[in-house]
Amino acid sequence: MVTWNMARRHVRILLVGDQGTGKTSLILSLVSEEFPEDVPPKAEEITIPADVTPEQVPTNIVDFSATEQSDDNLQDEINKAHVVCIVYSVENEESIDRITSHWLPFIRDSTTAEQRKPVVLVGNKIDLVDYSTIDHVLTIMEEYPEVESCVECSAKTLHNISEMFYYAQKAVLHPTAPLYIMEEQD
Ligand code: GTP
Ligand code: MG
Repeated sequence: MVTWNMARRHVRILLVGDQGTGKTSLILSLVSEEFPEDVPPKAEEITIPADVTPEQVPTNIVDFSATEQSDDNLQDEINKAHVVCIVYSVENEESIDRITSHWLPFIRDSTTAEQRKPVVLVGNKIDLVDYSTIDHVLTIMEEYPEVESCVECSAKTLHNISEMFYYAQKAVLHPTAPLYIMEEQD
């Protein structure tokens, strides 16, 4: 039996990605609706109340910082999360390569095949370039079915910031791929 969705009373979103791609800036930009010039390595966990989220579900947003946390911490956080956003920087090719060379395999290795986490690919710093990375990212989506959606955004100009968190919520509440595959029971 394939279950397409589980009724959720809250959504927990985890942001991962290479250092300097803008994870902390994205969270603080969403909360304060302006770009923070100085950011700490890691944002405090925040809870967005149900009535201000598009899907009316309380939503926790969790930052990850390799400076302050270990790979073990990261695996725990991946397991606690309902959706993982892999943040890359559109102007940093290495951060794009690491989506497939590091992050997607790491997330797979941290979870069981039956409990695969939906993933959203987030290309930040779109204010710095005049091209798009979406064509490339779409080829990644073909290879990794757990990638539910992708979005380019800018913590600096606030472009697509609320959309990015909406896509993450949507990946949990209305997934397009079966995320929970249960054994057929007699
Ligand atoms: P770690 O905590 O080290 O993993 O980094 P991080 O992913 O949290 O990145 P952080 O938010 O600290 O941002 C890194 C740098 O990129 C900072 O100097 C930010 O001001 C800058 N930055 C973040 N988002 C944007 C953006 O959308 N556009 C531009 N131009 N700069 C950005
Ligand atoms: Mg940070």
